[in-house]
Amino acid sequence: MQICRRVGDIRTAVAGFRAGGARVGLVPTMGALHAGHMALVAEARGICDRVVVTIFVNPTQFGAGADLAAYPRREAQDIAMLEGAGVDAVFIPEVGDIYPEGDETVVETTRLARLFHGAVRPGHFRGVATVVTKLLNITAPDHAFFGEKDYQQLAVIRRMARDLFLPVAVHGVPTLRDADGLALSSRNIRLAPADRAAAPVLNRALDLAEAAARSGATVEDMLAVIRAAVARETRARLRGCDAVWADSFTPATGPVTRRLGLMISAEFGAADDPVLLIDQREITPQGG
Ligand code: PAF
Repeated sequence: MQICRRVGDIRTAVAGFRAGGARVGLVPTMGALHAGHMALVAEARGICDRVVVTIFVNPTQFGAGADLAAYPRREAQDIAMLEGAGVDAVFIPEVGDIYPEGDETVVETTRLARLFHGAVRPGHFRGVATVVTKLLNITAPDHAFFGEKDYQQLAVIRRMARDLFLPVAVHGVPTLRDADGLALSSRNIRLAPADRAAAPVLNRALDLAEAAARSGATVEDMLAVIRAAVARETRARLRGCDAVWADSFTPATGPVTRRLGLMISAEFGAADDPVLLIDQREITPQGG
């Protein structure tokens, strides 16, 4: 596996792959890799001849506060995992390589970035869209792979790739979960034991909402079911609870007549150093 730290080095590596006629797949990550990331790599391996992974904790998608500094970093372990998974090249830039002195250009999906999770974390999706555009431009892949857990992020990236005519196929990969239902996330290792025990409430709340949908519940009923379930878990502080029509990513109301996306986010742990976890579920209309 080639380990590249400079833009020029990863470009040379990818040019080498392309010279051999390979289809290149990109898996962008912020490191602290877990089985969910490896599922993205496996998906990329299945579709592409060569797989490139990026590890970059992107400062522009973090809000003010401690979350960026607290984000887990485990480079040696990440490299070993990627090597074991047969990845062809990993790009591990410094902040100054991605945002050189004088950098002033941003990419923003002007509607999507401000809704839902974006309203709770202003600027977050602009940071994501900007860094993903840079990483796509640097590595020029044919295919790029993202987790479905970050449901709104995936919608933002799909929209931006479409709007900017980016020559890449964007793939969503289903969420991997621990045995108790907690969605795998690099942030899970920051949870204190009691919060780790409480965190599966997100998946349980989504299960209850899905069961309600099967009994004919409206979107409003389902959101109430989620709020009530999370409220019963005193260690969780609900930050966001939203429903969107999956085809348009517009707010959903009333009966479930089309594919629906439910998104929740909640904080655990100390109020001055919280761990923010998110989860999502797609609901297909009955008989659909
Ligand atoms: O999902 C993530 O890990 C990040 O948001 C991404 C897509 C790598 C951009 O920094």
